Amino acid sequence: MSKLTPLISASILSADFARLGEECTNVLQAGADTIHFDVMDNHYVPNLTVGPLVCKSLRNFGVTAPIDVHLMTEPVDNLIVDFAKAGATQISFHPEASKHVERSLKLIQESGCKAGLALNPATSLECLEYVLDQLSFILIMSVNPGFPGQKFIPSALEKIKATRSMLDHYKIKSTRIAVDGGVKISNLSKIRKAGADTFIMGSEIFEVTEKNYKTIVGKIRRTITS
Ligand code: DX5
Ligand code: ZN
Repeated sequence: MSKLTPLISASILSADFARLGEECTNVLQAGADTIHFDVMDNHYVPNLTVGPLVCKSLRNFGVTAPIDVHLMTEPVDNLIVDFAKAGATQISFHPEASKHVERSLKLIQESGCKAGLALNPATSLECLEYVLDQLSFILIMSVNPGFPGQKFIPSALEKIKATRSMLDHYKIKSTRIAVDGGVKISNLSKIRKAGADTFIMGSEIFEVTEKNYKTIVGKIRRTITS
């Protein structure tokens, strides 16, 4: 299990985009730690969402919490620079989407953000090995990227364990393991035990019927800290 403080990251993909600023403020006030900002380009993934302008608007609206930009785009380099300027705190991309992964990671760091790599369900851990020292976090996808509300792919648990072993092997303590896709109250404990410390959740949080996020975020917090 990770020794880092567990973090709850609310994925905006299931939020009401017409009221995005308010939704982010509400979910953060309810206890979420960070905003997970899903960027889709209808090319790398078959869906289209939002870009740097919207990230900047959230900052202008008054969102001060960390914004975790998950690039599901190809290519990535121009967007890295634009999102850093727009107020992103950390940025991840998929290794298949950059011709020069090490260069893109360096670009994230040089732009003043924390860098991460996002791994699809079928992507192996090999691509991490020679860039581990550049990674503030590793994002394990537990669904194929593109849509909210999909079912957790069970092999992600083994992959989280293997990632944790890799970090232990290299005595790396500060790199986080985030898990994204199909994360629910019902599978949180297993995911935490496997070694994840950052829990990205969209539909489980934003699709509560009463739109009162305190109850659901409180339940998530109790589950990951128990
Ligand atoms: C999927 C996105 C996820 C998504 C998770 O491509 O990267 O961040 O919003 O949504 P849920 O929690 O509903 O699986
Ligand atoms: Zn995501």
